[in-house]
Amino acid sequence: MKVLITGATSGIGWQLAHDYLDEGHDVIAVGRKRQALAVLKDKGAKVLALDLTDRQATLDGLAGLGPLNLAILNAGTCEYLDMPDFDSAAFIRVMRANVESMAISIEGVLPCLIGCEGARLVGVASAAAYLPLPRAEAYGASKAAIRYLFDTLDITLARQGVAVSTVFPGFVKTPLTDKNDFAMPMQLSAQDAARYIRRGIDKGQRHIHFPKAFTWTLQLLGLLPQGLWRRLAKRMIKA
Ligand SMILES: NC(=O)c1ccc[n+]([C@@H]2O[C@H](COP(=O)([O-])OP(=O)(O)OC[C@H]3O[C@@H](n4cnc5c(N)ncnc54)[C@H](OP(=O)(O)O)[C@@H]3O)[C@@H](O)[C@H]2O)c1
Repeated sequence: MKVLITGATSGIGWQLAHDYLDEGHDVIAVGRKRQALAVLKDKGAKVLALDLTDRQATLDGLAGLGPLNLAILNAGTCEYLDMPDFDSAAFIRVMRANVESMAISIEGVLPCLIGCEGARLVGVASAAAYLPLPRAEAYGASKAAIRYLFDTLDITLARQGVAVSTVFPGFVKTPLTDKNDFAMPMQLSAQDAARYIRRGIDKGQRHIHFPKAFTWTLQLLGLLPQGLWRRLAKRMIKA
């Protein structure tokens, strides 16, 4: 199988790239950190050093990759906002890294997926997409956008024979979460996260979410009457 992974230089994507390589698949690893890309290249991956927010460079880099069976669009970032300082620069950075780069990546990989046996497009969102969480004005909005985008592509790409999955991880220990200064319940290792994602892909799941105890809880909270969730969420804000 030929699999492209964005955000392959760190965390969840790094683990996915190693796991697919270990199983003998052809891996195309995308990221910016050249040192990490060099390690993946030594292990047998084809590597692409790309800033995915740079539309032209990304489309040029992805052009001519040839047929792809699987594209896992995982690159992303997280910044939290602290009210009442609405930092629109941070908001724009997050939307650019998570949403714009996703749109550009989709444009780049779709021609490689269409017509391929068992083609699947996978987008990594977050459990933060399930409901409004304090400080996640930017991150949660970006992941909710990805959720909508991939749920729609799941419908609109069906005729092209491209299956679509969205991934909703809970907390995973990676450089992204190592910056967090708050408790992260039920945090998983990147190895476990990659295992869940690969299993979900193998099963052809549309929504891949884990750990279930955490993601089901958030989904249930999301079903509460809005007023009830607002009251609970307000208590989570530090005084
Ligand atoms: N960790 C969690 O708890 C968690 C939970 C839910 C969802 N997620 C999502 O899972 C995905 C992976 O997160 P992670 O925890 O593994 O984070 P991470 O260790 O910080 O890795 C992020 C990856 O994204 C790449 N990236 C970011 N901006 C990029 C850009 N402009 N161009 C190219 N590559 C870019 C980075 O590559 P370079 O640094 O080489 O550019 C890196 O490989 C993200 O979408 C994140 O939102 C994570």
